[in-house]
Amino acid sequence: MSKTFYIETYGCQMNAADSEVVAAILEHEGYTRVEEKFEADVILVNTCSVRENAEQRARGRVQGFAEVKKRRPEVLVGVMGCMAERLGEALFEQEKNVNIVVGPDAYMKLPELIERAARGERAINVELSTTETYPGICPSRVDATAASGFVSITRGCDNFCTYCIVPYTRGRERSRPPGSVVNEVLALRAGGCKEVTLLGQNVNSYRWRGEGGATMDFPGLLGVVARAAPDTRVRFATSHPRDMSDNILRAIADHRNICRHVHLPVQSGSNAVLARMNRKYTREAYLDRLRAIREILPGCGLSTDVFVGFSGEREEDHRATLELLEEARFDAAFMFKYSERPGTVAARKLPDDVDEETKGRRLQEVIELQGRLSLESNRAEVGRVAEVLVEGPSRRNEEEARGRTEQNKMVVFPGKGRRAGELARVRVKGCTAATLLGEIEEG
Ligand code: SAH
Ligand code: SF4
Ligand code: F3S
Repeated sequence: MSKTFYIETYGCQMNAADSEVVAAILEHEGYTRVEEKFEADVILVNTCSVRENAEQRARGRVQGFAEVKKRRPEVLVGVMGCMAERLGEALFEQEKNVNIVVGPDAYMKLPELIERAARGERAINVELSTTETYPGICPSRVDATAASGFVSITRGCDNFCTYCIVPYTRGRERSRPPGSVVNEVLALRAGGCKEVTLLGQNVNSYRWRGEGGATMDFPGLLGVVARAAPDTRVRFATSHPRDMSDNILRAIADHRNICRHVHLPVQSGSNAVLARMNRKYTREAYLDRLRAIREILPGCGLSTDVFVGFSGEREEDHRATLELLEEARFDAAFMFKYSERPGTVAARKLPDDVDEETKGRRLQEVIELQGRLSLESNRAEVGRVAEVLVEGPSRRNEEEARGRTEQNKMVVFPGKGRRAGELARVRVKGCTAATLLGEIEEG
């Protein structure tokens, strides 16, 4: 009988992509994936460390697997991803259920680690690599019918924003060979994907150095991918404002199948805070990039990440963030409270000195403001016809279909029987702050 594994994924899209790499590695070794944890010989949790509450959630899951272990004591529990990397050996002490700890660059070793754990050893590998990109692994898709797939193009991050754990959990930045990126895109397309998202912590700094001194940068890669799969929507995330060059914007403009949507995390609207964050741009430079995006890519969707309550954030810094949001008029934003991460520069040198109540109030103000701006952005779409890539039935109502516009806006419309991967022309009839509501436009 073949061995089975079950995998749960938390955190960012990179983790979603990595779980598919891990699935491919295990399937190659003869394992079968199961959807039910009680049927698994190995349970894996792919974890995130970006904020304290992400780690709490992962711990909660790991503790919950005690009920599986009670029924089947031989089951092995593995923690993978960023929290595995951050905590390493200590995880065995802190979480009694854990048998395997494996970091983001050690997934090729997972079959071996499982064997060691099965012999009763504590199996751990959290070595970071400067070269590992899993170029030979064709990821095994979690949802083989999904309209959209992920392809990682870089791993790691060298930016060292002072608040961020990622450079420590994911190691140094490295780029995957263009050939392996294109192969993966073509494999997704052959498997029915109509959209691919190129992934990295900072995709703009993609740079491949081939033999004989040939190099390829991110605009070059965008062009290669867009031409290799001209009938596939191409997206990418995340962009760093400092590296969002006009060349990249022109590469998007040159290819109809690269989606007009940029996710450009701003983090704060205050220059003093941005400097303490080591973001390496000013508010003015950031706004200049928004101007360039809107000039070179008219109608481009724009979204951001922002967080309140970083070390030393005064009321005037917070107001600068609110003002920036007003000025930028993002279509959408992910909004957070600062969470100090052990081992970062901020944890060592910058006190976490904004009290919890103030953080909560500031976050609420940001959420309220952005809610209004998102609603206004969506209202401007009412009456227009959008091309929507159907992702599946709406989460709330089986009679309705759900999909996204090129600008990455979610659209819900009556469309029972519309299948994931279909393109639909939808007239927008109404909206909420998060969703456009429409009807199929016949003809
Ligand atoms: N590489 C991307 C995203 C990294 S993590 C980038 O450079 O923007 C995703 C988001 O989490 C960040 O954009 C930031 O807004 C938020 N984040 C990162 N570290 C955080 C921390 N310590 N506390 C709160 N939010 C954080
Ligand atoms: Fe973290 Fe900054 Fe790297 Fe993004 S660019 S992953 S926020 S260090
Ligand atoms: Fe989280 Fe690691 Fe992604 S810390 S956001 S899973 S890179």
